[in-house]
Amino acid sequence: KIILISLSLSIFTFFYFFFIRSGRRKSGVAARLPPGPYPLPIIGSIFKLGGKPHHSLAALSKTYGPLMSLKLGNRTTIVVSSPEIAQEFFSKHDISFSSRTIPYAGHTHDRHKISMVWLPVGDQWRTLRRISKEHLFSIRQLDSSQLLRKKKVQQLLDFVQDCCDSGRTVNIGETAATTTLNVLSNFIFSVDLAEYDSRSSQEFKDLVWRLMVIGGTPNLADFFPVLRPLDPHGLLRKANLYTSKVLAIFERHIGKRLQERSTGSPASNKDLLGLLLDISETEESSISLDVIRHLISDLFLAGTDTTSSTLEWAMAELIQSPEKMSKARSELEEVIGKEDRTFQESDISRLPYLQAVVKETLRMHPPVPFLVPHKAVTDVDVKGYVIPQDAQILCNLWAMGQDSSVWPDALRFEPERFLEVGIDYKGSNFELIPFGAGRRMCPGLPLADRMLHLMLGSLIYKFDWKIEGGILDMSDKFGFTLQKKLPLMAIPVKV
Ligand code: HEM
Repeated sequence: KIILISLSLSIFTFFYFFFIRSGRRKSGVAARLPPGPYPLPIIGSIFKLGGKPHHSLAALSKTYGPLMSLKLGNRTTIVVSSPEIAQEFFSKHDISFSSRTIPYAGHTHDRHKISMVWLPVGDQWRTLRRISKEHLFSIRQLDSSQLLRKKKVQQLLDFVQDCCDSGRTVNIGETAATTTLNVLSNFIFSVDLAEYDSRSSQEFKDLVWRLMVIGGTPNLADFFPVLRPLDPHGLLRKANLYTSKVLAIFERHIGKRLQERSTGSPASNKDLLGLLLDISETEESSISLDVIRHLISDLFLAGTDTTSSTLEWAMAELIQSPEKMSKARSELEEVIGKEDRTFQESDISRLPYLQAVVKETLRMHPPVPFLVPHKAVTDVDVKGYVIPQDAQILCNLWAMGQDSSVWPDALRFEPERFLEVGIDYKGSNFELIPFGAGRRMCPGLPLADRMLHLMLGSLIYKFDWKIEGGILDMSDKFGFTLQKKLPLMAIPVKV
């Protein structure tokens, strides 16, 4: 018996050292994963995530450090929770982490092969990014569409004025989402696709909202690919259904425009659709009508909820701190004047306190708390650890924003902290990267930046805000974006 046991042990030791240990050594880098909780067989550490993974992973990284690894089902996940390590990933080794882990529901309509959000860095992705940079979000393009945003924000103010006159509360997040959707739909198609009145039929708004809910719902098929054929929560089926409907809406607009172009009388050719169709008609273009539909889809899905939930958090923080609300309003009155001039985008650069409010909101409530998950393209050595090829990278922006070694008094809403330091969110200050950094950084930042300041400034310049009961619940809810758990319902009062 003893001989048999010793023999088995020797064989085990042999296999362990020669196959397992040596198998983990690749290309000369020490095959040592960053520290992390010990995984259970099959499920790994999935049970540690809970309903608020940004909170639970922040707590775990206090034990294991700002570069942590854990197994989620069969997926090796690396969690980054400090500016220093974030810089290693998205500056020093940016190209090696520029791919995406694609959720199963992201395979709907082959979006993983066509959407800018999911494509790996390659020719097609570069073409889409170049089009976005040159034709959507360049300073020239944004300056020339200023009037459109001014008009849409005026409609927002008219709606709030109606609520004020009739003593109705305003659902701030939903109202901001309507404005953002209409800014985008006019920019793209020259039409409104959403209405403020919640009683009217809201097919498009509802579909965008449903797709965002799917995007934020955890899916077992993402952790256990073997379950994919079963589509355990029916998320892919739902994503297929809603995406078909959204694409059909775009199809109608594209079809109508093509018909107008063929008769030589397009009602509008100066919007993004006109421009994309021009590009698609050039000989060497790789932009098909299908690519156009998915690009438009990306803009609505990535741009709406992110912008509206940031505005909702900013308003909630200011309503909670009336002295900061008055400070922001006084600055607006000083720069714009008290008479009835409207707030314009050209005023933003003269409003340092308003800018600080937006920064502080994005620090405390990053709308995309883990960035859109990146993926390691090859094995990479970071700080003496190996990040294995195909590992999923989550950068916990929420944890970084709460870290008192980075931000003194981190739990307090204190816009003043940004008045003295030149920290910005444009991707070079790794303490504050709500839009990401490096190649995959949000291309919509220049538009989001203008929209956030314009909507927030207009809402607080024209109105004072109260809430029923006077106390706000500030807890958050994890999803496609980090939202307020309870929607902010606020009462506008004429200033
Ligand atoms: C990607 C944040 C608004 C379009 C991203 C990413 C973040 C982000 C964190 C992922 C970066 C990464 O993975 O490293 C935000 C925030 C916004 C906002 C905080 C507003 C407050 C917008 C707007 C648009 C937009 C208005 C367009 C209309 C996109 C697209 C991507 C993206 C297309 C994917 C880029 C790629 O994978 O190459 N955004 N975003 N975003 N965003 Fe935004």
